Amino acid sequence: MKLTYFGHSCFLVETSGLRLLFDPFITPNPLAGDIDISKIKADYILLSHGHSDHIADCIPLAQSTGAMVISSWEIYEWLGKQGLTNLHPMNTGGKRMFDSIQVKCVAAQHSSGLPDGSYGGNPMGFIVTSDEGSFYYSGDTGLTLDMQLIPRWTKLDFAVLPIGDNFTMDVDDAIECARMIQCNEIVGVHYDTFGYIKIDHEEAIRKFKAAGMNLHLLKIGSTVDLRNLVLIK
Ligand code: NI
Ligand code: MN
Repeated sequence: MKLTYFGHSCFLVETSGLRLLFDPFITPNPLAGDIDISKIKADYILLSHGHSDHIADCIPLAQSTGAMVISSWEIYEWLGKQGLTNLHPMNTGGKRMFDSIQVKCVAAQHSSGLPDGSYGGNPMGFIVTSDEGSFYYSGDTGLTLDMQLIPRWTKLDFAVLPIGDNFTMDVDDAIECARMIQCNEIVGVHYDTFGYIKIDHEEAIRKFKAAGMNLHLLKIGSTVDLRNLVLIK
């Protein structure tokens, strides 16, 4: 399993020969100015919720890659109205196989309006399981006791969690989440992009270390091997 970070909450996981792109928000992100979205390849695009900082580049990337977009029912309907056809609707609690990968939708405590004010349904997190391992992406969420259910379903190899505070969990709540989901390898997202969510990187890493966990704050555009968390490029 490899993960490439594209800034904010956008990342690509390559596992079992498939490329899964999460929450594409690249071209409006000044911190991701070096990323050329025309070079991104994906088989699936997964949307945690409808806010523009998670779907801004979804339509052009769905068109350029031919990827199937997986999202809530309401976002599925909205994307259909925008002209996309390769779509799959899900909702909280459901799971489904896509090729050799299982996607399970789990609760997130957040909101999910679409950019034009349309209702976006419930925000969601995803548990993805492949023959190379399992991971959890919480989406935008506060800390919620629902996270305690996750180890009953899956032994996680890593998790991708927001840590920027203000709109989502802060570092301390993300540490609590990591305890609940029984996962010590955390990739931090949803920080630094806007003034509201700027964080102290050293302090965040130190707090995770003190809790016996590793927080990975990846350089935008870098790729890590998630088996051993080695930087590939
Ligand atoms: Ni949001
Ligand atoms: Mn967000």
